[in-house]
Amino acid sequence: MDDVVPIGKRHLIAVKCAMHYKPAKSGDSLPWHLHSKSSMGFVLRSQKSKKLRCDYQQTIKCAKRESIMASTLVPGTIYILFYDPNFSYNIAINSIHGAALVCMTYFDNAATTFPKPEAVYQACDQFLRRAANPGRGGHRRSLDSTRLIFEARQSIAAFFGIKQVQRLVFTPGCTYSLNAALKGFGLKAGDLVVTTSAEHNSVMRPLAQLKRDVGIKVEQLPYCPEHLFNVDDLKNVLSENKIRLCVINHVSNVTGAIGDIYSAAELCYRYNVPLVIDAAQSAGYLDIDASTKGISMWCAPGHKGLMGPAGVGLLYVQEDIEIEPLVSGGTGSFSEQFAAPVAFPDRLEAGTLPAPAIVGLSAGVEWLKQTGIANVAEKKQELTSRFLQWAREQDFLEIFGPSEKTPRAGLVSFRIRGLNSSSVSDLLDREYGIAVRSGLHCSASVHTALGTLQEGLVRVSFGYFNSASELDELCQALLEISRQNARLR
Ligand SMILES: Cc1ncc(COP(=O)(O)O)c(C=O)c1O
Repeated sequence: MDDVVPIGKRHLIAVKCAMHYKPAKSGDSLPWHLHSKSSMGFVLRSQKSKKLRCDYQQTIKCAKRESIMASTLVPGTIYILFYDPNFSYNIAINSIHGAALVCMTYFDNAATTFPKPEAVYQACDQFLRRAANPGRGGHRRSLDSTRLIFEARQSIAAFFGIKQVQRLVFTPGCTYSLNAALKGFGLKAGDLVVTTSAEHNSVMRPLAQLKRDVGIKVEQLPYCPEHLFNVDDLKNVLSENKIRLCVINHVSNVTGAIGDIYSAAELCYRYNVPLVIDAAQSAGYLDIDASTKGISMWCAPGHKGLMGPAGVGLLYVQEDIEIEPLVSGGTGSFSEQFAAPVAFPDRLEAGTLPAPAIVGLSAGVEWLKQTGIANVAEKKQELTSRFLQWAREQDFLEIFGPSEKTPRAGLVSFRIRGLNSSSVSDLLDREYGIAVRSGLHCSASVHTALGTLQEGLVRVSFGYFNSASELDELCQALLEISRQNARLR
């Protein structure tokens, strides 16, 4: 049976591990060498002499890195990669890191959700195999793709209560949507924009650019740990100043604090100030009506709570808002004129659409509809509460964000006293196979307010596919890291 598993120079092999092996110590996961073979399977031996028995049926042979990364692997299943020691070291390491994403316990869902529902992988795959450029041809393949995009727009708009479906624009991502909203709005020198102290750089950087290049003024509301911003503070600013635009984050990606965007919308409507909402962390987590009176523009990514792939975002622009396109080019419509079309969504959708990502996003939204957004939120909430309950009892942990009585979205940021956040996330990654996010989370203002700008925080963000036992693993790992740290001090 030797030819069944050709462990030769050309092959990397991913082994589906029957006994739920998790690399416990750094170095355990690589390299593994062939120890012995039999007709049923083979035994691998790690550098630390750990042995692992594998069945032939469970091996997936990969000649190329991409094939390891792709659909051969089942999300949530543990794999170990080994390679022939003569094989090119670089490629082997890359591949191991690639697969480690699959192996790991994944608590970085606020960065991007993983895994995606199976239907999302399938929708992207099928589109790539079958479709052509939507809106760019009269042949059946193109028309078929146009129909898929049309249906995706309808379905996603309905999910967010948007009736003016054409006003829901597909963009390359949430950052792009926010840039398009802020830069396309036509702000002039001296215009005052009000925002919160819990914004992501996707808001703060375009505003800084507009400040520098156009001469706008920016006022940040005081930081409010419980609710992201204080409604009374917003009211005061709106009533005492001539505000041209208001930009508000719905959910803080650092603390999970939830902003009261509906009160903000009411106030902005009353004071006739257009309001932009950054729904990067709330879309797919909270039941949102993007067409709420007072919300002028609403931005969301496809790859986070909406469970789609990266490469697509949403921008909803209410009918009474004029907006200049950030990018212009071919739209497949009004091609005789050089000016960008006036009609939505074409006005803001120049160039070929990220169609495979859009159909993937549509499948993600469909999955959310079927699973029930309330069930998804409840699952994340359970894990969040369970983690918070444990974490608040640990002296070595310092938790940031809303207090116990205030609801927060499915993420928790913390620090281990005496340890830099990136040291903790590195240890979790290397020693325990657990993925979290450390540092400043692209949100310096929040860290300034929290006093954590120097060392950052460790963020754990939960997803629908996480389990309580994975959470127990994380807690155990944090305990061990804190003990090690105490011994070294
Ligand atoms: C609050 C917030 N806004 C905007 C963004 C930008 O999203 P993207 O990087 O998907 O464009 C993020 C990403 O993490 C975020 O958390």
